[in-house]
Amino acid sequence: MKQAIITGASKGLGKALAHQLAEMGYSLLLIARSEKILTELAVNITQTHKVQAHSLALDLSDPASAKTISTWCAQHQFTPSVLINNAGYACWGFFESMPIEQQEKMLQVNTGSLVNLTHAILPILKQQPQAYIMNIASTAAYQAVPTMALYAASKAFVKSFSRGLRYELRDTNVSVTCLSPGPMSTNFIQQAGMEAMQETAKKFEMPAEVVAKKGLRAMFGKKSESIPGMVNYLTVKFSNILPDALLEKIAANLYLTKLK
Ligand SMILES: NC(=O)c1ccc[n+]([C@@H]2O[C@H](COP(=O)([O-])OP(=O)(O)OC[C@H]3O[C@@H](n4cnc5c(N)ncnc54)[C@H](OP(=O)(O)O)[C@@H]3O)[C@@H](O)[C@H]2O)c1
Repeated sequence: MKQAIITGASKGLGKALAHQLAEMGYSLLLIARSEKILTELAVNITQTHKVQAHSLALDLSDPASAKTISTWCAQHQFTPSVLINNAGYACWGFFESMPIEQQEKMLQVNTGSLVNLTHAILPILKQQPQAYIMNIASTAAYQAVPTMALYAASKAFVKSFSRGLRYELRDTNVSVTCLSPGPMSTNFIQQAGMEAMQETAKKFEMPAEVVAKKGLRAMFGKKSESIPGMVNYLTVKFSNILPDALLEKIAANLYLTKLK
Protein backbone atom coordinates (compact mmCIF):
# COMPACT_ATOMS: atom_id res chain seq x y z
CA MET A 1 0.00 0.00 0.00
CA LYS A 2 1.31 3.49 -0.88
CA GLN A 3 1.16 5.71 2.20
CA ALA A 4 3.12 8.82 3.14
CA ILE A 5 3.56 11.21 6.07
CA ILE A 6 4.21 14.89 5.36
CA THR A 7 4.89 17.43 8.10
CA GLY A 8 4.19 21.10 7.49
CA ALA A 9 1.60 20.07 4.93
CA SER A 10 -0.89 22.91 5.42
CA LYS A 11 0.79 25.35 3.02
CA GLY A 12 3.77 26.10 0.82
CA LEU A 13 6.10 23.29 -0.15
CA GLY A 14 4.34 20.72 2.08
CA LYS A 15 1.00 21.34 0.38
CA ALA A 16 2.61 21.01 -3.08
CA LEU A 17 4.28 17.76 -2.04
CA ALA A 18 0.95 16.47 -0.72
CA HIS A 19 -0.87 17.12 -4.03
CA GLN A 20 1.91 15.55 -6.09
CA LEU A 21 2.20 12.42 -3.92
CA ALA A 22 -1.59 12.03 -3.98
CA GLU A 23 -1.47 12.34 -7.77
CA MET A 24 0.97 9.40 -7.68
CA GLY A 25 -1.57 7.38 -5.71
CA TYR A 26 -0.24 7.86 -2.18
CA SER A 27 -2.64 8.03 0.76
CA LEU A 28 -1.48 10.73 3.13
CA LEU A 29 -1.13 11.72 6.75
CA LEU A 30 -0.92 15.52 6.72
CA ILE A 31 0.55 17.24 9.79
CA ALA A 32 0.68 20.93 10.79
CA ARG A 33 -0.89 23.22 13.40
CA SER A 34 -3.64 24.87 11.31
CA GLU A 35 -6.47 22.39 11.88
CA LYS A 36 -9.08 24.00 9.60
CA ILE A 37 -6.72 24.47 6.63
CA LEU A 38 -5.42 20.92 7.06
CA THR A 39 -8.91 19.40 7.23
CA GLU A 40 -9.99 21.28 4.11
CA LEU A 41 -6.84 20.20 2.29
CA ALA A 42 -7.42 16.55 3.26
CA VAL A 43 -11.00 16.72 1.92
CA ASN A 44 -9.83 18.42 -1.28
CA ILE A 45 -7.07 15.84 -1.87
CA THR A 46 -9.42 12.92 -1.16
CA GLN A 47 -11.95 14.26 -3.68
CA THR A 48 -9.43 15.30 -6.34
CA HIS A 49 -7.04 12.38 -6.29
CA LYS A 50 -9.24 9.53 -5.04
CA VAL A 51 -6.80 8.60 -2.28
CA GLN A 52 -7.30 8.74 1.49
CA ALA A 53 -5.94 11.90 3.11
CA HIS A 54 -5.94 12.23 6.89
CA SER A 55 -5.10 15.33 8.89
CA LEU A 56 -3.49 15.51 12.30
CA ALA A 57 -3.26 18.98 13.83
CA LEU A 58 -0.16 19.12 15.98
CA ASP A 59 2.42 21.61 17.20
CA LEU A 60 5.73 19.99 16.36
CA SER A 61 7.54 22.19 18.88
CA ASP A 62 5.99 19.87 21.46
CA PRO A 63 8.61 17.14 22.08
CA ALA A 64 5.75 14.62 22.57
CA SER A 65 4.50 15.11 18.97
CA ALA A 66 6.52 12.23 17.45
CA LYS A 67 4.96 9.78 19.92
CA THR A 68 1.49 11.14 19.09
CA ILE A 69 2.13 10.56 15.37
CA SER A 70 3.48 7.00 15.76
CA THR A 71 0.54 6.15 18.05
CA TRP A 72 -1.87 7.54 15.43
CA CYS A 73 -0.21 5.34 12.77
CA ALA A 74 -0.56 2.23 14.96
CA GLN A 75 -4.22 2.98 15.76
CA HIS A 76 -5.11 3.58 12.09
CA GLN A 77 -2.95 0.76 10.65
CA PHE A 78 -1.17 3.44 8.66
CA THR A 79 2.10 1.97 7.40
CA PRO A 80 3.97 4.66 5.43
CA SER A 81 6.75 3.96 2.98
CA VAL A 82 7.48 7.70 2.66
CA LEU A 83 8.32 10.18 5.43
CA ILE A 84 8.81 13.82 4.47
CA ASN A 85 10.08 16.08 7.25
CA ASN A 86 9.17 19.43 5.75
CA ALA A 87 7.86 21.59 8.65
CA GLY A 88 10.21 24.44 9.39
CA TYR A 89 10.56 28.18 9.65
CA ALA A 90 13.03 30.96 10.41
CA CYS A 91 13.43 33.56 13.13
CA TRP A 92 14.98 36.71 11.62
CA GLY A 93 17.05 39.07 13.76
CA PHE A 94 20.06 39.22 16.04
CA PHE A 95 20.40 36.07 18.12
CA GLU A 96 20.81 38.05 21.35
CA SER A 97 17.77 40.26 20.65
CA MET A 98 15.21 37.51 20.05
CA PRO A 99 13.63 35.71 23.03
CA ILE A 100 15.39 32.39 23.59
CA GLU A 101 12.06 30.61 24.11
CA GLN A 102 10.98 31.65 20.60
CA GLN A 103 14.26 30.41 19.10
CA GLU A 104 14.17 27.14 21.06
CA LYS A 105 10.75 26.41 19.54
CA MET A 106 12.12 26.95 16.04
CA LEU A 107 15.06 24.68 16.80
CA GLN A 108 12.69 21.98 18.05
CA VAL A 109 10.50 22.16 14.92
CA ASN A 110 13.43 22.34 12.46
CA THR A 111 15.63 19.69 14.12
CA GLY A 112 14.30 17.97 17.28
CA SER A 113 10.91 16.98 15.89
CA LEU A 114 12.54 15.81 12.64
CA VAL A 115 14.93 13.57 14.58
CA ASN A 116 12.23 12.23 16.92
CA LEU A 117 9.75 11.53 14.13
CA THR A 118 12.40 9.81 11.99
CA HIS A 119 13.34 7.60 14.96
CA ALA A 120 9.70 6.79 15.68
CA ILE A 121 8.72 5.98 12.06
CA LEU A 122 11.91 4.20 10.93
CA PRO A 123 10.78 0.78 12.24
CA ILE A 124 7.63 1.04 10.07
CA LEU A 125 9.64 2.18 7.04
CA LYS A 126 11.96 -0.81 7.43
CA GLN A 127 9.00 -3.18 7.12
CA GLN A 128 8.19 -1.89 3.61
CA PRO A 129 9.73 -3.37 0.43
CA GLN A 130 11.22 0.06 -0.37
CA ALA A 131 10.98 3.23 1.69
CA TYR A 132 12.07 6.85 1.47
CA ILE A 133 12.83 9.69 3.89
CA MET A 134 13.13 13.24 2.59
CA ASN A 135 14.32 15.97 4.95
CA ILE A 136 13.92 19.60 3.92
CA ALA A 137 16.97 21.73 4.64
CA SER A 138 17.82 24.93 2.71
CA THR A 139 20.62 26.50 0.71
CA ALA A 140 21.28 28.19 4.10
CA ALA A 141 22.54 24.77 5.24
CA TYR A 142 25.73 25.38 3.27
CA GLN A 143 26.92 28.60 4.94
CA ALA A 144 26.49 30.76 8.02
CA VAL A 145 23.89 33.53 7.68
CA PRO A 146 24.15 36.55 10.01
CA THR A 147 20.64 37.53 11.29
CA MET A 148 19.48 33.97 10.62
CA ALA A 149 22.35 32.35 12.51
CA LEU A 150 20.29 29.72 14.32
CA TYR A 151 18.04 28.96 11.33
CA ALA A 152 21.06 28.35 9.05
CA ALA A 153 22.67 26.22 11.77
CA SER A 154 19.47 24.18 12.14
CA LYS A 155 19.45 23.49 8.39
CA ALA A 156 23.17 22.54 8.44
CA PHE A 157 22.14 20.04 11.13
CA VAL A 158 19.40 18.64 8.88
CA LYS A 159 21.84 18.19 5.99
CA SER A 160 24.53 16.54 8.11
CA PHE A 161 22.04 14.28 9.90
CA SER A 162 20.48 13.23 6.59
CA ARG A 163 23.83 12.27 5.07
CA GLY A 164 24.96 10.35 8.15
CA LEU A 165 21.67 8.49 8.44
CA ARG A 166 21.68 7.74 4.71
CA TYR A 167 25.07 6.06 5.05
CA GLU A 168 23.97 4.06 8.09
CA LEU A 169 20.95 2.80 6.10
CA ARG A 170 22.86 2.21 2.84
CA ASP A 171 22.37 -1.58 2.91
CA THR A 172 18.70 -1.39 3.88
CA ASN A 173 15.45 -0.68 2.03
CA VAL A 174 15.35 2.92 3.30
CA SER A 175 16.79 5.73 1.18
CA VAL A 176 17.41 9.19 2.68
CA THR A 177 17.41 12.41 0.63
CA CYS A 178 18.09 15.97 1.74
CA LEU A 179 16.27 18.63 -0.29
CA SER A 180 17.75 22.13 -0.03
CA PRO A 181 15.57 24.77 -1.68
CA GLY A 182 16.54 28.40 -2.19
CA PRO A 183 13.88 31.13 -1.93
CA MET A 184 10.36 29.87 -2.70
CA SER A 185 7.08 31.75 -3.14
CA THR A 186 5.48 30.51 0.10
CA ASN A 187 4.45 31.85 3.50
CA PHE A 188 8.06 31.61 4.71
CA ILE A 189 8.99 35.32 4.37
CA GLN A 190 5.81 36.56 6.11
CA GLN A 191 6.12 33.98 8.87
CA ALA A 192 9.67 35.13 9.61
CA GLY A 193 8.69 38.82 9.51
CA MET A 194 11.09 39.29 6.59
CA GLU A 195 8.84 41.49 4.42
CA ALA A 196 11.82 43.85 3.96
CA MET A 197 13.52 41.00 2.04
CA GLN A 198 10.51 40.35 -0.20
CA GLU A 199 11.76 42.35 -3.21
CA THR A 200 15.18 40.65 -3.15
CA ALA A 201 13.65 37.20 -2.63
CA LYS A 202 11.24 37.69 -5.54
CA LYS A 203 14.18 37.88 -7.97
CA PHE A 204 15.27 34.36 -7.03
CA GLU A 205 12.02 32.68 -5.96
CA MET A 206 10.96 29.33 -7.37
CA PRO A 207 7.33 28.12 -7.22
CA ALA A 208 6.84 25.52 -4.47
CA GLU A 209 5.27 23.17 -7.05
CA VAL A 210 8.48 23.12 -9.11
CA VAL A 211 10.63 22.50 -6.03
CA ALA A 212 8.26 19.72 -4.92
CA LYS A 213 8.51 18.01 -8.31
CA LYS A 214 12.30 18.15 -8.33
CA GLY A 215 12.43 17.00 -4.71
CA LEU A 216 10.19 13.98 -5.33
CA ARG A 217 12.23 13.04 -8.40
CA ALA A 218 15.41 13.16 -6.29
CA MET A 219 13.79 11.19 -3.45
CA PHE A 220 12.41 8.41 -5.65
CA GLY A 221 15.71 8.45 -7.56
CA LYS A 222 17.46 7.74 -4.22
CA LYS A 223 19.67 10.84 -4.52
CA SER A 224 21.59 11.95 -1.41
CA GLU A 225 21.01 15.68 -1.94
CA SER A 226 19.03 17.95 -4.22
CA ILE A 227 19.43 21.72 -4.67
CA PRO A 228 16.70 22.75 -7.11
CA GLY A 229 17.38 25.64 -9.50
CA MET A 230 20.59 26.40 -11.39
CA VAL A 231 21.28 29.68 -9.54
CA ASN A 232 20.83 27.97 -6.17
CA TYR A 233 22.97 25.02 -7.23
CA LEU A 234 25.80 27.25 -8.49
CA THR A 235 25.61 29.49 -5.40
CA VAL A 236 26.11 26.45 -3.19
CA LYS A 237 28.94 25.11 -5.36
CA PHE A 238 30.69 28.52 -5.22
CA SER A 239 30.24 28.58 -1.45
CA ASN A 240 32.41 25.46 -1.31
CA ILE A 241 35.36 27.28 -2.82
CA LEU A 242 34.98 30.85 -1.46
CA PRO A 243 36.38 31.72 1.99
CA ASP A 244 33.78 31.52 4.78
CA ALA A 245 34.49 35.09 5.90
CA LEU A 246 33.68 36.40 2.41
CA LEU A 247 30.46 34.39 2.22
CA GLU A 248 29.36 35.72 5.60
CA LYS A 249 30.07 39.29 4.47
CA ILE A 250 27.99 38.78 1.31
CA ALA A 251 25.13 37.30 3.36
CA ALA A 252 25.37 40.13 5.88
CA ASN A 253 25.18 42.68 3.05
CA LEU A 254 21.99 41.01 1.86
CA TYR A 255 20.23 40.44 5.17
CA LEU A 256 21.73 42.75 7.80
CA THR A 257 21.24 45.94 5.80
CA LYS A 258 17.49 45.20 5.55
CA LEU A 259 17.06 44.53 9.28
CA LYS A 260 15.63 47.54 11.14
N1 LIG B 1 10.32 29.43 1.39
C1 LIG B 1 11.63 29.49 1.35
O1 LIG B 1 12.17 30.47 0.86
C2 LIG B 1 12.46 28.34 1.88
C3 LIG B 1 13.81 28.28 1.50
C4 LIG B 1 14.58 27.23 1.96
C5 LIG B 1 14.04 26.26 2.77
N2 LIG B 1 12.73 26.35 3.14
C6 LIG B 1 12.20 25.28 4.01
O2 LIG B 1 11.12 24.66 3.34
C7 LIG B 1 10.23 24.08 4.33
C8 LIG B 1 8.79 24.47 4.00
O3 LIG B 1 8.65 25.87 4.18
P1 LIG B 1 7.69 26.76 3.25
O4 LIG B 1 8.54 27.63 2.45
O5 LIG B 1 6.68 25.91 2.58
O6 LIG B 1 7.02 27.68 4.37
P2 LIG B 1 5.51 27.83 4.85
O7 LIG B 1 4.63 28.14 3.68
O8 LIG B 1 5.56 28.82 5.97
O9 LIG B 1 5.14 26.39 5.41
C9 LIG B 1 5.69 25.92 6.61
C10 LIG B 1 4.90 24.72 7.07
O10 LIG B 1 5.41 24.28 8.35
C11 LIG B 1 4.32 24.19 9.27
N3 LIG B 1 4.76 24.49 10.63
C12 LIG B 1 5.42 25.59 11.07
N4 LIG B 1 5.58 25.54 12.41
C13 LIG B 1 5.00 24.38 12.82
C14 LIG B 1 4.82 23.77 14.10
N5 LIG B 1 5.26 24.35 15.22
N6 LIG B 1 4.18 22.58 14.15
C15 LIG B 1 3.70 21.99 13.02
N7 LIG B 1 3.85 22.52 11.79
C16 LIG B 1 4.48 23.71 11.69
C17 LIG B 1 3.30 25.22 8.77
O11 LIG B 1 1.99 24.88 9.15
P3 LIG B 1 1.16 25.58 10.33
O12 LIG B 1 1.50 27.05 10.33
O13 LIG B 1 -0.24 25.28 9.97
O14 LIG B 1 1.58 24.90 11.58
C18 LIG B 1 3.43 25.03 7.26
O15 LIG B 1 2.64 23.96 6.82
C19 LIG B 1 10.72 24.58 5.69
O16 LIG B 1 11.48 23.56 6.31
C20 LIG B 1 11.62 25.76 5.33
O17 LIG B 1 12.62 25.98 6.29
C21 LIG B 1 11.93 27.36 2.72
